Amino acid sequence: MGNARRYRPRLDEAKLRAFQTRLLRWFRRNGRDLPWRRTRDPYEILVSEVMLQQTQVERVREYYGRFLEEYPTVQDLAAAKPGRVRESWDGLGYYARARNLHAAARTIIRQYQGRFPRRLEDVLALPGVGRYTAGAVVSFAYGEPAPILDTNVRRVLSRFFVRRRATSPAKEERQLWALAEAVIPAGDAWTMNQALMDFGATVCTARNPHCERCPMRLRCAYYARAATTLPG
Ligand code: ADE
Repeated sequence: MGNARRYRPRLDEAKLRAFQTRLLRWFRRNGRDLPWRRTRDPYEILVSEVMLQQTQVERVREYYGRFLEEYPTVQDLAAAKPGRVRESWDGLGYYARARNLHAAARTIIRQYQGRFPRRLEDVLALPGVGRYTAGAVVSFAYGEPAPILDTNVRRVLSRFFVRRRATSPAKEERQLWALAEAVIPAGDAWTMNQALMDFGATVCTARNPHCERCPMRLRCAYYARAATTLPG
């Protein structure tokens, strides 16, 4: 963060506040109980996020606990043989993820004496970690107000907030990251980021947004458009 040229979305404060309050309330009632939500350990969170990069939640559930039993700490993973790590990853696919995760563990031992880095830039510099994963790790483990933007979050934010599409993909990208940052309430990055993901995965879905179940719909740009273009 700390970027002076950061794009600032012009946001209606009341709309922003309504989005936050209603989404957080929705999450308290409907959020999923997932194993990686019961920990604040950055290593365990990194393992879950890397697994979730290209694999469905239900499948990750099967592997996550087993992997952590085998490699309970970053030291255990760093000390493992590459072939062994690959075997543990068998069935999850996209093995580059396992290689990178293993390399990340070794970097943490070598460069940080085994203490997981806390700063976003340092997490971002780990092998296989992009802006999304770094934001997820520091917001979930440390409560840092770092934004996350994956397909689900992107869809929720752009449907709700964006009335006119940005004029270029680069602008759209900046606009959405800025929104993802703006919606994080002071002191509660963990809940907002988890809520955005769950809401996108279970209500505001790609093909069929369940607007009837959405507590934010009355202020939603997408819902307003749908109401004027749909018959009835
Ligand atoms: N996909 C990526 N990260 C996730 C998380 N923490 N919970 C649910 N789905 C996810």
